Amino acid sequence: MREAFLINTLNKMSDRLIFFDTTLRDGEQVPGCQLNTIEKIEVARQLESLGVDVIEAGFPVSSPGDFNSVVEISRAVSRPVICALTRAVENDINVAAESLKYAKYRRIHTGIGTSDEHIRYKFNSTREEILERAVAAVKYAASKRAEVEFYAEDAGRTDNEYLARVAEAAIKAGATIINIPDTTGYCLPDEYGAKIRYLMEHVDGLANGKAILSTHCHNDLGMATANTMSGVLNGARQVEVTINGVGERAGNTSLEEIAMILKCHHDIPLECGINTQRITAASRLVSSLMSMPVQFNKAIVGRNAFAHSSGIHQDGVLKNTTTYEIIDPKDVGLDESDIVLTARSGRAALRHRLSALGVKVDIIAMNRIYEAFLKLADKKRELTDDDILMLAGADLSAKKHVKLEALEVTTGKGVVPDATIKLNVNGESFTAQSTGNGPLDASIKALKKIILRTMTLKEMTIQALSKGSDDACKVHMQVENDGHLYYGFGSDTDIVTASVEAYIDCINKFKPQENG
Ligand code: KIV
Ligand code: ZN
Repeated sequence: MREAFLINTLNKMSDRLIFFDTTLRDGEQVPGCQLNTIEKIEVARQLESLGVDVIEAGFPVSSPGDFNSVVEISRAVSRPVICALTRAVENDINVAAESLKYAKYRRIHTGIGTSDEHIRYKFNSTREEILERAVAAVKYAASKRAEVEFYAEDAGRTDNEYLARVAEAAIKAGATIINIPDTTGYCLPDEYGAKIRYLMEHVDGLANGKAILSTHCHNDLGMATANTMSGVLNGARQVEVTINGVGERAGNTSLEEIAMILKCHHDIPLECGINTQRITAASRLVSSLMSMPVQFNKAIVGRNAFAHSSGIHQDGVLKNTTTYEIIDPKDVGLDESDIVLTARSGRAALRHRLSALGVKVDIIAMNRIYEAFLKLADKKRELTDDDILMLAGADLSAKKHVKLEALEVTTGKGVVPDATIKLNVNGESFTAQSTGNGPLDASIKALKKIILRTMTLKEMTIQALSKGSDDACKVHMQVENDGHLYYGFGSDTDIVTASVEAYIDCINKFKPQENG
């Protein structure tokens, strides 16, 4: 069945699958993952070298920062199409078109909710009115010298017959890509595939290649990748994905998973432009800049994705890797380089490692990272790639008005935890002491005697970077100040110091007038 449909449809269609990356739009709108323009450019360059076809660079009308990022990304990369998101609103489309003015290849991604839930509760409207608004937005966008992609938000829960009418009207109005988002991550793979197939069979303009369908799946039920593949096998020719699967709630479909599925399953007759050997560098760059750790057992890019731990597996792999490995680690850019970074390594070795990991730094930042590297290398025998990325990420993350100069903590069973902290605030040193119900509580209470702001620790996660009691740990923290949430991270071989560093990283991100 599947084969018959595939042969019939694919013979008439392109055999290339377009990769549309939305790390910088759907991925970046996640709280705590925000990037500044310089960081976004760095990610965009990495995406270009990874071979993505389209970069969704932002939602320009949402903020001047987003607008500016789309402008700068358009200047910085030239091979991929640069795409800007809009609602079905003329002003959004004007702003998007303006933000794309330097892009060599431009795309406006406009659309509207089409499910009955969206039509009734979000728009208090009717199907007919929504269809008219969709057509008007596509026509307007098409007048802006850009290709037009139309999204039917919540298509996953939209009635297929109505969805087909909207898609056909959007194509007639000038859209050449129709995006079918499973916005809520609700669909089952069969259901999503059947939806794509229904559209392929019922919408004029799809079978003859005038327009293509795009998948855009969310991972609320852990089915984003399965749904995307089901969409592709039923005729979609563009996939909307993010690095590491970052995105709203449980995230979006992972770019690396789809790219490696195509590489491993030779029976799927589709080509793509992804240079899979760049996947690891891209994953680490995004994780580090977004302060978003990758789940250890995440497919393709998790720390354990290529680690064999059980004796039986190790034995098999030693005899022949194909026994337990379907992917050659080199195919995702995991090199087996033997450059071991220790306290005796020089700047050249560190720079080489950073560049292999996809991180480019200027001389000033390099000097700072090297200093931090030497301090950490004194405490750890060997520095891992995660350590290096964490040091680079920490350095790039903020201007540091507040710095931790010293921290002394007394704690233990039967002892009242006591901390003395020395901070440098805008060049001046201050010391304070406090007790607390634990070493971290004592340290933060002492810190609050120096930084006189109302701030509340909202969330904290601690991650060991590799193995062993000499390992550095990385702490992610969320602190509230003046109604805003700030995200920070810190690392050290001492868990309390790493936590205080993360707290201070948050303080350094407070708006200037709020800084203590
Ligand atoms: O998930 C979604 O529906 C989206 C659209 C705005 C494309 O991100
Ligand atoms: Zn989305």
